[in-house]
Amino acid sequence: MSTHNVWTHKGTFLLAAVGSAVGLGNLWRFPYLTGENGGGAFILIYALTIFAVGIPILIAEIMLGRNSRRSPIMGMRFLTSTHKTSRGWETIGWLGAASAFIILSFYSVIAGWALHYTGLMLTGSLDGADAETIGASFDALLASPPLLTLYHTLFIGASALIVGLGIHRGIENGLRVLMPALFVILMVVLVYSAAIGDLSAAATFLFTFNVADLSLEGWLQAMGQSFFTLSLGMGAIMAYGAYMSSDASLTRTAFAIAVVDTAVAMIAGLAIFALVFGAGLDPGEGPGLMFVTLPLAFAEMPAGPLLGGVFFILVLGAAISSSISLIEPVAAFLVERFDLERPQAVSAMVIASWALGLLTVFSFNLMAEDTLFHTLFGRSAFGLLELLTNIFMPLGGMLIALFAGWALTHGEVMKEMRTNESWFRLWRFLVRFIAPAAVAFVFLRTIPQVEGYLLPSIGAVVIVGAFAAGRTFLAERQES
Ligand code: PHE
Repeated sequence: MSTHNVWTHKGTFLLAAVGSAVGLGNLWRFPYLTGENGGGAFILIYALTIFAVGIPILIAEIMLGRNSRRSPIMGMRFLTSTHKTSRGWETIGWLGAASAFIILSFYSVIAGWALHYTGLMLTGSLDGADAETIGASFDALLASPPLLTLYHTLFIGASALIVGLGIHRGIENGLRVLMPALFVILMVVLVYSAAIGDLSAAATFLFTFNVADLSLEGWLQAMGQSFFTLSLGMGAIMAYGAYMSSDASLTRTAFAIAVVDTAVAMIAGLAIFALVFGAGLDPGEGPGLMFVTLPLAFAEMPAGPLLGGVFFILVLGAAISSSISLIEPVAAFLVERFDLERPQAVSAMVIASWALGLLTVFSFNLMAEDTLFHTLFGRSAFGLLELLTNIFMPLGGMLIALFAGWALTHGEVMKEMRTNESWFRLWRFLVRFIAPAAVAFVFLRTIPQVEGYLLPSIGAVVIVGAFAAGRTFLAERQES
């Protein structure tokens, strides 16, 4: 059964995809990674990857969704049968479902921290506090399983409610209020931090390109981040694409998503670093940048608690518009495949993911010293879940690029992209060769101890594999 559902307006897909793309990745992960990796050079690689690899895969993923008009798993089952390719390509759907499920489990825990900080800010609890107090308050939050579980439950429950109401009543209506509000809040935060912080130091930090600042590790992190931030390779975009109006321009929409997503990350980076430098703090704090460094800046500035409260509401809103896009592909699959009612499908997905989230909760306290787990996997449970998604997402993206690049016919792609022949050729070259090779590179970062020439040689294998895959497709198509 296909979903046969289409967004109410031509522009809703853009709204939904931007909602998915803009999230903790932009407001939390991007600034701290940039801070850790020396600023400008990191951003240069990040931006290059967004445009050379991210956009082509984004186009490919929307294309697979809109062409099949089904949830990712059922959609790939449909496309493999209509294109007479191996059922193995269904892996795209299954990998996506697995990543969505896992990402949601820890995304919700971290978004829960933002819930806690919204409360701390608005009640003025941290007003005037010093670095030690603020650091201790973050540690105390992480040490408390009940508190973390409570916030995790509240956040995932709210996301489930929105998706449970359906794509029109829940997702569309929710996003129509949320997204403009987020934009306004982001502007307020930027203007205030420009007025009070050190905007020029922030701009210098972000836009001075000093390639020597960038390690190989930072290079690879920049590429990984560009996948995460565009919600690529895990079916969220494919699921939303399945509801996209056939009239909306795919190419233009994909560019718009990437541009808005990048702009939000830059604006958030400018605002956050203006406050951080204005307060004379360290930009390289890591994951604690948002939860320790920033609250410290808020604690010391006039009307800090108010701005801080507004800022964390922005973080929450951006996170929830992303988390609903993690629920949708799996819920839609359960509805299509098992004929479940939507509320049941959403509950099944969310309850299971909530339970998995407890592992992340306990990684910061009960299991922080768990030597058995650490010995087995060499990292915390949260670290392991993150590692898995760091493998699944790029892998999914690579398979999507290969399938769209090699299996879809010229006619099908042109029907979706409606561009001229040279844009088509550029896109196809990028998804056939460049994207898979680049992804292989990112992917290898996550395999421990991959060093030296192993990296280029596996890259070469992937390129050869892409050729081989392509030949098989072409051969099959000519026969049929
Ligand atoms: N793009 C989201 C962010 O930047 C995260 C996300 C990844 C959401 C994958 C959906 C799917 O926060």
